[in-house]
Amino acid sequence: METGNLAVPRILQLPRIHDPRGNLTFAQGGAQLPFDLKRAYWIYDVPAGEERGGHSHHEQMELVIAVGGSFSVNLFDGFSWKTYMLNKPFEGLLIPSGVWRTLDDFSSGSVCLVLTSNYFDEADYVRDFDEFRHLALERGPLF
Ligand code: TYD
Repeated sequence: METGNLAVPRILQLPRIHDPRGNLTFAQGGAQLPFDLKRAYWIYDVPAGEERGGHSHHEQMELVIAVGGSFSVNLFDGFSWKTYMLNKPFEGLLIPSGVWRTLDDFSSGSVCLVLTSNYFDEADYVRDFDEFRHLALERGPLF
């Protein structure tokens, strides 16, 4: 189990099983994932120039993986922005709870896989940017 600080975004390196038949990567609860996996969703067929995300979560943590192509994940802790360009199927970006995110610059045919720590619950979303900034100001910076 990954035991690093769960409050700070970071890139997790996932196993790569190299094989003449092609590569294989996996993420298993209790091993590569720093949370119990509850749900997976994936974003694909994103038209050029479109942006996804635009929210944070009260509780949920996510691991975001570019399983195909590339895209950028822009993270905001209420104080500063950090951008991660993801383009490796063996790297996952851990997004802690309480971090605003937008995703953009999707390459054609890219696929964004998201592994989550919680079942879907709209009440866990903060979709209002001003509300997020207010919550973040009370909490303080994460990065
Ligand atoms: P949304 O979270 O707004 O997508 P993004 O992360 O790009 O902002 O989700 C879009 C819609 O899909 C929204 O109506 C909620 C719904 N949805 C589910 O029903 N289940 C899920 O697991 C997810 C991630 C979204």
